[in-house]
Order: sequence, then structure tokens, then C-alpha cells
Amino acid sequence: MNYKKLINELDKSKIPRHIAIIMDGNGRWAKKHKTKRINGHKEGVKAVRRIVETAVEAGVEYLTIYAFSTENWGRTKTEVSYLLKLIMDSLVKEIDELIKNNVNIRFIGSREKLDESYNKRVMETCKKSWKNTGLHLNVAMNYGGRKELLDAFNEILADARSGSKLDGEITEKIVSDYLYTAGMPEVDLVIRTSGEERLSNFLIWQSAYAEFWFTQTLWPDFSREEFIRAMLDFQQRKRRFGTR
Ligand code: FPP
Repeated sequence: MNYKKLINELDKSKIPRHIAIIMDGNGRWAKKHKTKRINGHKEGVKAVRRIVETAVEAGVEYLTIYAFSTENWGRTKTEVSYLLKLIMDSLVKEIDELIKNNVNIRFIGSREKLDESYNKRVMETCKKSWKNTGLHLNVAMNYGGRKELLDAFNEILADARSGSKLDGEITEKIVSDYLYTAGMPEVDLVIRTSGEERLSNFLIWQSAYAEFWFTQTLWPDFSREEFIRAMLDFQQRKRRFGTR
């Protein structure tokens, strides 16, 4: 079915507010097409584009995509530099179109290990979109869920020691407020492509009550239709948040 028709089948009052995507399978896509891994990533960027557009059309409020994890530094030097460059180039190339679509984009993750000039360029580019009120697009870059929690705990500790704030006990609200995602809703739906069924250190705090949706499809082949089907499936789930 054409995706425009499928999008009309969504219950607009029950669109997942925050979707998190683990974009997996670029390497296997490249292998299947007998080409270099980097071509798999390049093709993956095209999928990012169509999924972001579809999220905007469906009225999703927050979309967080796992672009580069704290574990990805373990790949070959060539692949790591290619990925860093591809992500930066895509951001710079797409920013005007994103702004036109009222997208508010930010990178979430640790700034450590990335060059200061890289971080600065990301910040300056993203900043141009921060007045936008449509889709909030988070690119998880040098992101790890445990690292995020450690950063939060260390900041809480520092603030408590300095005596400026935080003199009572630590609450869930306080932890949430110190995460990279402070002020954002928790994740409703986690999508992972390529047949793997793991969270891989992605938004571990924020996904505590998320629904999971897995597909065999490799990320570069992930279509608008399949993305909408994931949302339609989400709308059929009964979410009880631990209650009856
Ligand atoms: C997983 O495939 C993919 C990644 C680690 C990188 C994802 C990055 C992109 C799609 C690039 C674009 C991102 C933005 C924000 C423009 P894999 O290499 O682990 O695949 P494999 O498991 O099949 O080897």
C-alpha cells in the first residue's frame, strides 16, 4: 500500500510521542550488494532522510536515532573516520531542508573523544534550528546509556557537594533532569532493524517502559511503509506501565 494511504490509518490521537531507532544492518546490506561497508552507511543516510520526513508527516514529536555509539570507536580507524565525516556532512547538507520542515535538531551524547572543532560545528549548525517547533530530532552521537547515567550521577554529586542545590534524596525526576534528554518525554517505541533484538546501551533509562518493535529488514532498506506499520502495531499494544 502507498505510504500516504497507510499514514491515514494511524490514530492521530495515539501517535507515539518519542520513537527511538537503532539503525542496524548497513554492513550486511553492503555485503549483500557486494560493495564496501561505507556504501552501506551512505545508503543508510538515505533511509534516515525518508524516515525523518515520514516522522514529520505522521506528527511524531521526538525521534532519536542511534548514529554512533561509545562502542563504535572499536571499529577500524577508516570506518570510524568515515562515519564521523558522513554524519557531519549529512547534517551540514540537510540543515536547510530540516529547518524548512520545522525540525528542531540536536546531537545527544558525550563530547569527550570528539574534536572540539567537531563539537563546535555540530552545535553551530544545529543551533539554527532551535526555534523550530515541529519534530525534535535527536542524533545520538558518541552516545552510550551507561556513560549518560554516569555523567548524570557525577554532575548530581558535584552539585550536591557544592551545596548549591540537591540537599534531599535523589529522585527519578532529578536523574531524568540530568540526562542528555532532560525535558523530553520518555521513549514510547524502540525500533531495531536487521533482526538483532537488543537495546545495545541505547536510552536505557528512557526506555524503561517502551514497546519494542523488531524487523529483519536491513536499515538501508527500511521503508516509509514499514515505519508506519511499526507505529500501527504500537497503537494496538496495551500499555500498562506495571499496573493491571
Ligand atoms: C549500523 O550498521 C549502523 C551504524 C553503526 C551507523 C549508523 C549511521 C548511519 C545510518 C549514518 C547516518 C546518520 C546520520 C545521523 C546522518 P552496522 O555497520 O553495524 O551494520 P552490520 O551490523 O550489518 O555490520
